[in-house]
Amino acid sequence: MSNQKDLPIGFMDSGLGGLSVMREALKLMPNEDFIYYGDSANAPYGTKDPDLIRDLTFRVVDQLLEEGIKGLAIACNTATSAAVRYLRQMYPDLPLVGIEPAIKPAVESSHGGEILVMATPMTIQQDKFQKLLAIYRQDARILPVPCAGLMEFVEKGDLDGEFLDAYFKEHLSPYLSKDTETVVLGCTHYPFLKPHLQEFLGPDIRLIDGSYGTSKELKRRLEEKDLLHQEERERTITIKNSLPNPEMIERSYKLLNM
Ligand code: DGL
Repeated sequence: MSNQKDLPIGFMDSGLGGLSVMREALKLMPNEDFIYYGDSANAPYGTKDPDLIRDLTFRVVDQLLEEGIKGLAIACNTATSAAVRYLRQMYPDLPLVGIEPAIKPAVESSHGGEILVMATPMTIQQDKFQKLLAIYRQDARILPVPCAGLMEFVEKGDLDGEFLDAYFKEHLSPYLSKDTETVVLGCTHYPFLKPHLQEFLGPDIRLIDGSYGTSKELKRRLEEKDLLHQEERERTITIKNSLPNPEMIERSYKLLNM
C-alpha cells in the first residue's frame, strides 16, 4: 500500500473554477502532488436542483478517492452548500474543506459601505448561505447578486470582451450604487474574471474571494495529520475533466499559468 503522505491532494469543481483555489494551494504547499477534477460535462451546477448537485459531487469525489488522495477541497461554492455536510458524514477521517462566499472577511474589513455577493442562484438559495447572511446582515448591508450564465464565460476561456461587459451591465449594474464598497466573488469561476471586472467597476471597489482562506484551512488540516512533506521534492499536477475534450485540459493548465 502506498504511503498516505505520498498521495496527491484532490480538488473538485463543476468545471474549471476550482483552479482559482488550487492555484493558491499550489503556492502554499509547494512539495505536494495535486489532482484536479473538473466536471465540465455536467456544468453548470449552479442552476441545478440540490439533490442532483449532491449526486454529481459524490460521483466526482468517489472517482478522486478511487485514484487515491490524502485530502480534498470541494473548490465549488455550489457543491459545498449542497454536499459538504454529507461528505463529512461519509468520510469522517478525510481532511476535507469546502468553500463559501467570503462574506466574513468582507464585513470584517468593511468601512461601512455596501457589500455585493456574486454567486450562483443555487448557492444563494441554499440554507448555508442564508444563515451566513443572517449572521452578518446585522453589521453590514449585503446584497446577493445571482449570476446564472457567468461561469460559462470561464469554461469557454472568455475572460474579457464586450459580451462579458454586456453581462456585467445587465446582471451586476442594477445592484451597484455610490455606496458599493466591496464585491465578494462567491463562485470559484469568478476570480478568473477579476482583471476585467475590476476594470468594469473601477479601482475604488474591492474584490474579495475565499481561495486563499480555503487553501490555508486545507493546509492546516493536512498538517494536523502530519500529511505534508517537509522536504523539497518535485511534484506532479494531474488535471482531469469529464468532458472528453483535450482543449479543457489545455485551458486548465493555462488558467494555472502553466
Ligand atoms: N464554481 C462553482 C461555484 O463556486 C459554480 C459554477 C457552476 O454553476 O457550476 O459555485
